[in-house]
Amino acid sequence: MENFANPRKMLFFINMQILLSFIFFTIFYRRETPASANVDLQENLLVSRVLSKEPIIVLLWTFPFGQRFPLNQCPQQFDGSDCFYTADRTLYSSAHAVVLFHRDVCTSKKQLPQTPRPSNQRWVWFNNESPSHCPNLAIMNNLINLTMSYRVDSDIFAPYGWIEKHNTTMNFTIPRKTKLAAWAISNWNPNSRRVKYYGELKKHLQVDIYGYRGLKLPRSKQLETLSTYKFYFAFENSIHVDYITEKLWDNAISSGCVPVVLGPPRENYERFIPRDSFIHVDDFSSPQELASYLLSLDKDEEKYKQYFNWRSEYYVPPQDNPWTVSYCRLCKALKEAPPYRTIASIEKWFKN
Ligand SMILES: *[C@@H]1O[C@H](CO)[C@@H](O)[C@H](O)[C@H]1NC(C)=O
Ligand SMILES: *[C@@H]1O[C@H](CO)[C@@H](O)[C@H](O)[C@H]1NC(C)=O
Ligand SMILES: *[C@@H]1O[C@H](CO)[C@@H](O)[C@H](O)[C@H]1NC(C)=O
Repeated sequence: MENFANPRKMLFFINMQILLSFIFFTIFYRRETPASANVDLQENLLVSRVLSKEPIIVLLWTFPFGQRFPLNQCPQQFDGSDCFYTADRTLYSSAHAVVLFHRDVCTSKKQLPQTPRPSNQRWVWFNNESPSHCPNLAIMNNLINLTMSYRVDSDIFAPYGWIEKHNTTMNFTIPRKTKLAAWAISNWNPNSRRVKYYGELKKHLQVDIYGYRGLKLPRSKQLETLSTYKFYFAFENSIHVDYITEKLWDNAISSGCVPVVLGPPRENYERFIPRDSFIHVDDFSSPQELASYLLSLDKDEEKYKQYFNWRSEYYVPPQDNPWTVSYCRLCKALKEAPPYRTIASIEKWFKN
């Protein structure tokens, strides 16, 4: 270990670290993005910001699930430009925020930073799993300052998807439909509500199953394949408040299917998407009733089309990387965060 007793030496070291990370980032960024004057300008702006004004340093303790993605590329509306994102743990002592992705650290307290926390550093708990798949929450007791998750009442709301309003009314073209209903499922748990529901439903309706137990669905073909179906079953693996995942956003909505959802109650979905954009299994007293409704829609094109009316007003913004926006939202939240906040028990809140 170097001796950092001399603060000037330490400051120099930190600056060098930032500069080095930045150079690497710039090289990476250049490779990923086609060269253009605009990009150069943005880079220069970013560089001068980082070097002149003190940036808010955000340390990703891990890349979620080890999936690396380019940092420091926040879409403008998220106002991430005052932050410098890094995954370089040697910057720990200068980081203003450390983001702990629950799944990557929950096996043991030893996975958390072990060196004493600088006094102004916030620890951010980031999680995108439902409480049913979120073990060891107690290790987070009395450590966390801010929460970031798909729950609306998180400090930083990090949903799987969202809609935005078009500036003008658009004509949405429904993809050509040749098939009826699809469901992609990788985790086939016979005791889960969704698998039991399907067991009844399939007696009355033909559903094409993709994934682990069914037809192959390579990621590159997903959108194209699913878009040929009229309905997509966006059935969540467990039922929890606000727990609405990529099953709805990517598999159903982005593919241009009508989502048939199983998850939290209808009112919960309506916080995020228009009420006439989806079909909820709870709207029917039995799987058989749902099946006959879907079959009737299959024969009634005008009625089926009404499930797309909302798309003349709203759209789902495309995301290059599902993680980027969550981290970008964090930057603004850090600037607005209360001076002091600590959470005694994540578990008490998240499991309620
Ligand atoms: C929509 O309007 C906003 C605000 O006026 C503008 O910033 C944005 O570029 C517009 N988007 C499109 C797609 O025209
Ligand atoms: C949408 O369709 C209507 C009717 O066909 C047409 O009058 C209108 O110009 C279209 N709007 C756009 C934005 O293409
Ligand atoms: C963050 O939480 C820790 C642990 O409870 C606490 O010691 C620290 O003062 C908090 N920091 C802020 C900025 O709230």
